[in-house]
Amino acid sequence: MAARPETGSPFIPLPEMSGRQFREWAELFERRAGLVISPERKSFLVTAVGLRMREAGFDDYEAYYQWLHRGRESLPEWSLLLDRVTVHETRFFRHPRALELVSRHVSDKPCEGEALSYQVWSIGCATGEEAYSLAMVVDQALLARSGRSYFGVVASDISVPSLTVAREGIYKESRLDELDDRLLRHYFAPLEDGRFRVVESLRRRVCFAQMNIFDHARHPLGPMDVIYCQNVLIYFQRERRKMLLDGLVEYLLPGGLLILGSGDVVGWNHPRMERVRWDGVLAYRRLPPQGRTT
Ligand SMILES: C[S@@+](CC[C@H](N)C(=O)[O-])C[C@H]1O[C@@H](n2cnc3c(N)ncnc32)[C@H](O)[C@@H]1O
Repeated sequence: MAARPETGSPFIPLPEMSGRQFREWAELFERRAGLVISPERKSFLVTAVGLRMREAGFDDYEAYYQWLHRGRESLPEWSLLLDRVTVHETRFFRHPRALELVSRHVSDKPCEGEALSYQVWSIGCATGEEAYSLAMVVDQALLARSGRSYFGVVASDISVPSLTVAREGIYKESRLDELDDRLLRHYFAPLEDGRFRVVESLRRRVCFAQMNIFDHARHPLGPMDVIYCQNVLIYFQRERRKMLLDGLVEYLLPGGLLILGSGDVVGWNHPRMERVRWDGVLAYRRLPPQGRTT
């Protein structure tokens, strides 16, 4: 693919996208990533696709669309484009009440072996703030307990550029406003340029992986104590959200929690899950095989 810098200029107006082309592009994003892009968001899609198309050296939507269907060869380009149409807004301790529920869950988990093990999966982790927040909360709750323990956080996202930032674990000071000083001192090391890096001992606990949430069945993930999926489902069709949640139940340990963003899903029920009453939080608990836990 030849780079043609002159076509990459943001000052040349983007070509018109016909109604048929818009439907094809919207269908592509939905089929491959579950993303719903409604006709009202056409101008957003045109800008995102158009600018990336130019950067990649194409000047018409059709040719770019065809290129993205060239199998493995076009996967890196698909990944860059996808990054342009997904929203990566996030911050540390974004949902404090949900994190309090996790902390309580850690404190209450019975230790059934020599050491207590606790596993978390953060889905749609963006640039890592959510996953590191979960790691801090679990670590603190385990430190408050006696006895040996181990924990891990698997953090997945479809966006490769976001995961690169997440793995580095380097953030500007302004991103750390939600953290109290004690956590800041404990889990972050100042860098010479004024930014802060998550300390290695915490980074080691978090494993970042590129994963399309709709392909989770292809990834061998162990049973989880918590699946944390906030501000991700809203981008998908309602029916697909429910199917997805049905699938996620299989990854939870009995007693494990599925924590969603409030309003992410309405009217979802599952025979093996019960609602957890926790103010301001939409959460479900997996029932033990014989019946209810509470
Ligand atoms: C708004 S961010 C939410 C970040 C974080 N969960 C939070 O609440 O702060 C949504 C994230 O979902 C990711 N995402 C969107 N579609 C996805 C998919 N099909 N599979 C996995 N991640 C996806 C995006 O890349 C983005 O990083």
